[in-house]
Amino acid sequence: MKKTILFLTVLSLAASCSKKASAPTSDATAKVEKTIDGAAVFARSCARCHGAQGIKDQRTPNLQTIALDKAGLIQSITKGKGFMPAFEDKLETAEIAAVADLIVSWHK
Ligand code: HEC
Repeated sequence: MKKTILFLTVLSLAASCSKKASAPTSDATAKVEKTIDGAAVFARSCARCHGAQGIKDQRTPNLQTIALDKAGLIQSITKGKGFMPAFEDKLETAEIAAVADLIVSWHK
């Protein structure tokens, strides 16, 4: 009897462990892909200087018409430019890419 209980305990422990090890990984991946919304990142990190639509005043370039492709945008956002801070420590690479995609989409 004791052995059976021990066996069951070990079994259920093993089951809960393997659940913990695998489930959150796939959940987290799905979440990251779904929640990176370039518009939300822009509103949170960029709009205070660039305006909600990428146009504010003469202190910041008009992002609706700026002549930079996605790679150029990623470079400037990641490393910063002039008075604009670098975002490499503030945003995930995927967030920077999402915001660059958003700006590119404005150019069309
Ligand atoms: C603190 C204010 C500030 C914030 C926050 C800010 N910017 Fe800027 N940004 C500037 C200024 C000022 C410039 C002009 C820099 C220059 O040319 O000297 C600029 C320039 C740029 C440029 C043009 C860079 C180039 O190479 O010519 C892009 C693209 C840009 N910002 C995108 C963004 C994005 C996307 C975000 C949010 C992730 C952001 N900025 C956040 C102030 C800001």
